[in-house]
Amino acid sequence: MRHFIKETDFTVGEMAAVFATAADMKRERSQGTEKRAHLEGQSWGLLFFKKSTRTRVSFQVGVHELGGQPVMLNAEELQLSRGETTADTARVLSRYLHGLVIRCYAHSVLEEVSRLGTLPVVNALSDYLHPCQIYTDFFTLAERWSGGDVKRYLESLKGRKIAFLGDTACNMANSFILGGAHLGVEIALAGPANYAPQAEIREELSRSGLVPSWRFTQDPIEAARGADMVYTDVWTSMGMEAERAERLSQMQPYQVNAAVMRAAKVGAYFMHCLPAHVGEEVTQEVLDSPASIIFDQAENRLHVQKAILAHLSTHGLTQT
Ligand code: CP
Repeated sequence: MRHFIKETDFTVGEMAAVFATAADMKRERSQGTEKRAHLEGQSWGLLFFKKSTRTRVSFQVGVHELGGQPVMLNAEELQLSRGETTADTARVLSRYLHGLVIRCYAHSVLEEVSRLGTLPVVNALSDYLHPCQIYTDFFTLAERWSGGDVKRYLESLKGRKIAFLGDTACNMANSFILGGAHLGVEIALAGPANYAPQAEIREELSRSGLVPSWRFTQDPIEAARGADMVYTDVWTSMGMEAERAERLSQMQPYQVNAAVMRAAKVGAYFMHCLPAHVGEEVTQEVLDSPASIIFDQAENRLHVQKAILAHLSTHGLTQT
């Protein structure tokens, strides 16, 4: 049974294959010629404990376009919200579904379901990692940096510098740290000292046998200097609303604005996983600038996630 819970669940070779499939799917969809049946006759659950626009819709559409039936499961409407255990839920859902996409708070939920269930599990965001987003972000950059040559997608990422500003202990920062080391991409993180990368992700790299390719600074301009792409995420992630005032005050110096983008390489891109809080982590000017590729990024969630599901369906999916 294969799962996609963290960036390193697929080898670099598998990642190249996923990107090539995503590029094919994207092209065929735009030409109206796509005919894929990887999930024919299957029902995939989309279990969401947190709010979502992009992830939820792109997975629903993606499962449908692969010939399967998406089953939307709002955790608030399940017996989970009345105390049924994750373990029993995993065992029960395994009897109905062929796969489960989960967005949750604690990453341990994904680990528990993948251990106890008998179906493939895909991480649609946890407090720890957001691997579908990071694969999409690398794919979106590779489309540009390779000049459209799919065979050069991964090679075009190697040696690039990405700057990540703001909450560098959040799930997106962790995914950049893990995904960057997996692919050989330099990740320069800048944020307040008390929001620096945590021990858990450092240990993850060590356990995975990966050479760290990240560094942390409290100077946003130093991180952005010479970067090929500048990235940020909201300063107050879902579930951390009580810390909002404190976070806003501490992270203000790390806003991505025109000065930060000027420090990056000429032609550098700006990316954000969205939704954006305009005037907080990023200015309207940067969001609307030619450097911003946020909507291509959002679109590519669909193509990359379809390729991830297709890969799972042909490399280790077992029927319930
Ligand atoms: N980027 C992202 O995960 O968006 P949603 O929260 O809207 O799914």
